[in-house]
Amino acid sequence: MSSLENLSHENRTFPPTPAFTAQANAQATLYQEAADDRLAFWARQAELLHWERKWDQVLEWELPNAKWFLGGKLNASYNCLDRHVLEGRGDRVAFHFEGEPGDTRTITYAQMLVEVKKTANALLELGIGAGDRVAIYMPMIPEAAVAMLACARIGAAHSVVFGGFSAEALKSRILDADVTLVITSDGGYRKGSAFPLKPVVDAALAGGDHNVKKVLVVNRTGQAVAWVGGRDIWWHEIVDRQSAEHVAEGFDSEHVLFILYTSGTTAKPKGIFHTTGGYLTQTSFTHRAVFDLKAESDVYWCTADIGWITGHSYVLYGPMINGATQVMYEGTPDSPTKHRLFQLIEKYKVSILYTAPTLIRTWMKWGDEYPADSDLTSLRLLGSVGEPINPEAWMWYREVIGADACPVVDTWWQTETGGLMISPLPGVTATKPGSAMAALPGISAKVVDDEGRDVANGQGGYLVLTEPWPAMLRGVWGEPERYRETYWSRFPGKYFAGDGAKLDDDGAIWLLGRVDDVMNISGHRISTTEVESSLVSHINVAEAAVVGANDAVTGQAIVAFVILRGGIPSVGGEELIADLKAHVTQEIGAIARPKQILVVAELPKTRSGKIMRRLLRDVAEHRTVGDSTTLADPNIMKLIGEGLQSSKSED
Ligand code: WT7
Repeated sequence: MSSLENLSHENRTFPPTPAFTAQANAQATLYQEAADDRLAFWARQAELLHWERKWDQVLEWELPNAKWFLGGKLNASYNCLDRHVLEGRGDRVAFHFEGEPGDTRTITYAQMLVEVKKTANALLELGIGAGDRVAIYMPMIPEAAVAMLACARIGAAHSVVFGGFSAEALKSRILDADVTLVITSDGGYRKGSAFPLKPVVDAALAGGDHNVKKVLVVNRTGQAVAWVGGRDIWWHEIVDRQSAEHVAEGFDSEHVLFILYTSGTTAKPKGIFHTTGGYLTQTSFTHRAVFDLKAESDVYWCTADIGWITGHSYVLYGPMINGATQVMYEGTPDSPTKHRLFQLIEKYKVSILYTAPTLIRTWMKWGDEYPADSDLTSLRLLGSVGEPINPEAWMWYREVIGADACPVVDTWWQTETGGLMISPLPGVTATKPGSAMAALPGISAKVVDDEGRDVANGQGGYLVLTEPWPAMLRGVWGEPERYRETYWSRFPGKYFAGDGAKLDDDGAIWLLGRVDDVMNISGHRISTTEVESSLVSHINVAEAAVVGANDAVTGQAIVAFVILRGGIPSVGGEELIADLKAHVTQEIGAIARPKQILVVAELPKTRSGKIMRRLLRDVAEHRTVGDSTTLADPNIMKLIGEGLQSSKSED
């Protein structure tokens, strides 16, 4: 948080151009309309969806439980697909898919609908029905989107697990949601070679203490895979022979659409679950208003993987409801060369780009020559999400990628909020580099002090949401108390987001990063506690403390301090450090692999035994260590300094 504290002294502003405003989807009047009657405003947005049965009541709010569009019935897959085909938009391209090896597929809405219907029929044949949970563990290929929509079509909740998570992480999610079917692929492509996924699923299911009956496997790479007879089924063998007829049934507005796990402040990830009507209303509205989508002419590219909420809300549901033509890319930005994403923008004439600050900073580091080699003039709007964007990166994005001509929208939201919450409206808002600006129409965000009182302009505090919103999480799967406790107890009656924020002198909102024990690594949330417990599960580790240290590219980087068990040499332990890093990768996944592990003799603790991470962060960020007078043993920091000299950093 420290490097961000000076952020809000920015005074450059970028008003919309008259030309953009003249054609913008969003008008300034939206704020007033929503303020006049918030529920009527959201009802007008909901009316743009197709409902099998209209709702009787817009909102029922019994803090902290919200129900939106009660009594309404709708089908998410119908809204994303059938509707476009029935209304004559079937030939529009839904996805320009680009595989990592360079293979391409162009998929129209009509083709997508056929695939989803067949897959829905295959799921039914496998005994999956409304109310069941299906885990999806796949690379970024069209079948991932097909699988999600097929689940939604038959009312089964999908629980997508990012393909970078380990067998352990996958297993705990399968168990927590009591999943009965896993959809995966043999593997995918990354940085020029094929990686395996099916073996990870096999490992996750090896214990047998779960209820998974079938595993549906897409043949993506042709790798040899082990096969469990009676359990494993090739996608092409069961899906291809299905009927292309399937009538989508309307489900209750509050029917569970999906579960998505996210790291919290304890070691156990939270199964955030979302329901149908409100979620689809907010994701489609915000996608139109904030990205200014013109479905007939725009090519929209959100670079997120479907394993994260951004992929759910702004690759799958929001854009597809709006009939967007999208780019979907399987690989990484630097493979085979650092030109890859810029070449894709040129090739598909991408007009709207939505990505994360970590990628923008990586591009900055590589140098302007890479974007300069491609024609990026098709771009007309740029979006950012996942972590605070520093003004330098914001300006570079605007100037180098957007040729100084595209509005930049910095969008704040969370897995829990389901849809965008704080963002400029392009064509309306005069933006400031680094600020997400203001709550969207129909959303109530405030910055409050320790006692929950509104702070004045120019002051910092905690970001809270003061009114329920349509796409809000409906709870933590199987843990209602945890839901109440995590989000609604810090400031009674208000949703606590876990972020620090500041209002500048004009009242614009500046996000300052997490205030809890959650790190943000390349826009992905990782819990310090989760990494700590993974480290202490290693036989050589007695105790561990993990902090997120500022990092110029990834926002934060994981730095771990470990105390070894007696008898293990702490000097020259390079091999052990490598082993510990591999252990975390094995336990959680590569995204949680510490960048640096420091072996120390002791950890700084208060008299009540709480680890003072603030002091460790000082060490990790090479600062003078701050006030350590509350430590039980004031000598500790000196000891840590000594321990440091015997450890090695990766960079
Ligand atoms: C956390 C949510 C929502 C999609 C990706 C991450 C941080 C997200 C911004 C932004 C500053 C941001 C917050 C938030 N965050 N967007 N524009 N500016 N911070 O989803 O994994 O649920 O993480 O990401 O700290 O609480 P997530």
